[in-house]
Amino acid sequence: MDQLLPAEILEAGQAFPRALAACGDLDSLLRLKGIYVGREASHAARLMELLKVAPKEQKRDLGAAINALKQQWEEGLKHRQAELETAKKSLNALASSWDPALPPPTPAQGALNPLNRLMDRLVEVFRPLGFHVEEGPEVETEAHNFDGLNIPEDHPAKASSDTFYLAVHPELLLRTHTSPVQVRTLLRVAPDLAARGGVRFLAPGRVYRKDEIDPTHSPMFHQVEGMLVGHGIGMQHLKGTLEYALRALFGPHTEIRLRPSYFPFVEPGCEVDVSCPLCGAKGCRVCKGSGWVEILGAGLIHPNVLRYAGIDPDEWSGWAFGMGVERMAMMLSQTPDLRLFFENDQRFLQAMGGLD
Ligand code: PHE
Repeated sequence: MDQLLPAEILEAGQAFPRALAACGDLDSLLRLKGIYVGREASHAARLMELLKVAPKEQKRDLGAAINALKQQWEEGLKHRQAELETAKKSLNALASSWDPALPPPTPAQGALNPLNRLMDRLVEVFRPLGFHVEEGPEVETEAHNFDGLNIPEDHPAKASSDTFYLAVHPELLLRTHTSPVQVRTLLRVAPDLAARGGVRFLAPGRVYRKDEIDPTHSPMFHQVEGMLVGHGIGMQHLKGTLEYALRALFGPHTEIRLRPSYFPFVEPGCEVDVSCPLCGAKGCRVCKGSGWVEILGAGLIHPNVLRYAGIDPDEWSGWAFGMGVERMAMMLSQTPDLRLFFENDQRFLQAMGGLD
């Protein structure tokens, strides 16, 4: 039957599906419609003219071939038109739902970990008192972590069961507290301590101990060290400074109390409690009914610590404290498990937005 049709019509018939698919909008579809089935000068019109002049005996077959082709084209065009109309409708719907006056969607914003925010807050509390930030390495020498702090050779903290020593370098270890920053800073400032009129700093950072991980222990945690060296410094200065700082942190009605304690690098040494900021010292789960929570260790700098750094303890004196950051963050946010602070679960971090 096909041999009755001229070659260019057959080609046009073969090209039709591709031409149809290439129509991306109703206008180009309309143009294609004109080319194939339009009333004048289209492929279909041309075929009708051929039919008119065809010899009688061919008319039936030619007519059938022409009808089949025309039907194929018309159906194709109708189908594609429906497709394009639906696409246009959904595009219009989208366009009318877009309000250019609305603010753009806010991109998700990152935030500091709550532990870092708490350390930053402590730094800000002490800054007006003239304290700057000192840093030290997390891999420390035995000398800075123990010897310079008057910690004797047989002290249990030095045991390999309590401390991570570096296998390749046995006198190096992961610092067990931020106190080695005391030693480093004193050694550095000792030569011009008089010209400086003393020194005062905070040292926030990470520390490591061989603790089994559980809701209140982690082999890695954070401390903030504080130290002040000057002339005639006594417990009253320590107490006054801590009272100021802890009230700035926990609220103006916070009370503090000092209990005697022992750390080799202070004398006298104490542990400092604050009146429970959650229940107002009435007694609750966080303070275990006592109204007080232990918050830090502190004391007056031991003369041996000053001596180790080349500072004369008869001329200079000072105080130091060290506080656990996780403990304080857990209390402030009533978080029952410190691992939450390290796991980076977005839901927890989002909820912690209120820590500040
Ligand atoms: N370094 C002590 C600890 O980790 C805390 C402390 C620091 C105590 C400074 C007294 C003075 O427990």
